[in-house]
Amino acid sequence: MSGPLVLGIETSCDETGVAVLEGMDVRSSVLASQVELHERFGGVVPEVAARAHVEAIRPLAHRAITQAGIHPDDLDAIAVTKGPGLIGPLMVGYAFGKSLAYSLGRPLFGIDHMEGHLYAPRLSFDGYEPPAVVILASGGHSQIVHMRSWGDYAVLGGTIDDAAGEAFDKLARFMGLGFPGGPAIDRDAREGDPKAVAFPRALRNRPYDFSFSGLKTSVITYLEKAKADGSLPPRADVSASIQEAIVDVIVDKTFAAVEATGVEIVGGGGGVLANTRLRERMAEEADRRGVGLFVPEPDLCTDNGAMIASVGVDRVMAGIPGDRLDGDVEPGLRLGA
Ligand code: KG4
Ligand code: ZN
Repeated sequence: MSGPLVLGIETSCDETGVAVLEGMDVRSSVLASQVELHERFGGVVPEVAARAHVEAIRPLAHRAITQAGIHPDDLDAIAVTKGPGLIGPLMVGYAFGKSLAYSLGRPLFGIDHMEGHLYAPRLSFDGYEPPAVVILASGGHSQIVHMRSWGDYAVLGGTIDDAAGEAFDKLARFMGLGFPGGPAIDRDAREGDPKAVAFPRALRNRPYDFSFSGLKTSVITYLEKAKADGSLPPRADVSASIQEAIVDVIVDKTFAAVEATGVEIVGGGGGVLANTRLRERMAEEADRRGVGLFVPEPDLCTDNGAMIASVGVDRVMAGIPGDRLDGDVEPGLRLGA
């Protein structure tokens, strides 16, 4: 046995994720994505998401336990996302986690979703250890975190308007590429020229903060003008140029933080880190500087139950008692605050 058996539950947004970990080994990890449900609205509808979590959570937990080849009584603890996220979706997972912990007589650990993203690379790599700089970029968050030790996080900067994933999503919607926009732009951009259009790279004067609203305005203005005067380049060129503008800023700022902190380990998490071009550019930059890069496979970058369970494993190993069962979700939870 390589560590405690922990069941992790993630329901902060539009993916129901449940996983069973034995130490840092993933015994099972299953997901019910709601992409199709939200597609026709062009974004996540919180009430629709909450209801879909209600339907998915029990059969999914059953599947995770069966696939792990264990009995629920074998579990040492339950870990569940308590924030940040959408209140309805969070409540569904948290209530389910609580009742499971109560009925099994096992500790419950309420986990910060962003700490889950910080932990995710541990499931793929040995050698991912603090001190490290970790870039977290998803649909709801863009943050550069200085991880000084496990549990000790300084948020160096973040977005002052849209998150990086939100920028991808909104621009893809404007271009008629569908939802979610990140993967759509990623695919479209493969055939395109990233230098076709020079979109702005914002907030160069605030080293670790992001702003994507200027890019959004610039793309929309550009497309409207190009359409009107018939100078519209192939769509793939526009996608590649948008992607390059977002990727440039993320790579620049992440490695500026690496330089300033002097760390030799760089990590990444959140859905945007699934982006092909971003992964390529991060790898090139890490190579050039001789630092270790730990960005897990795309399935562990996007939301999942395994990353939540991994934080729970650490809590159990540290001998931390579980949370009180009368606690509540914290939709506005902030890392390092
Ligand atoms: O971490 P995540 O699964 O959920 C949140 O916590 O938000 O991230 C979802 C976000 C969406 O905005 C989606 O468009 C973006 O991650 N995303 C991508 C890619 N895959 C997902 N963005 C760019 N390129 C991708 N390949
Ligand atoms: Zn996330």
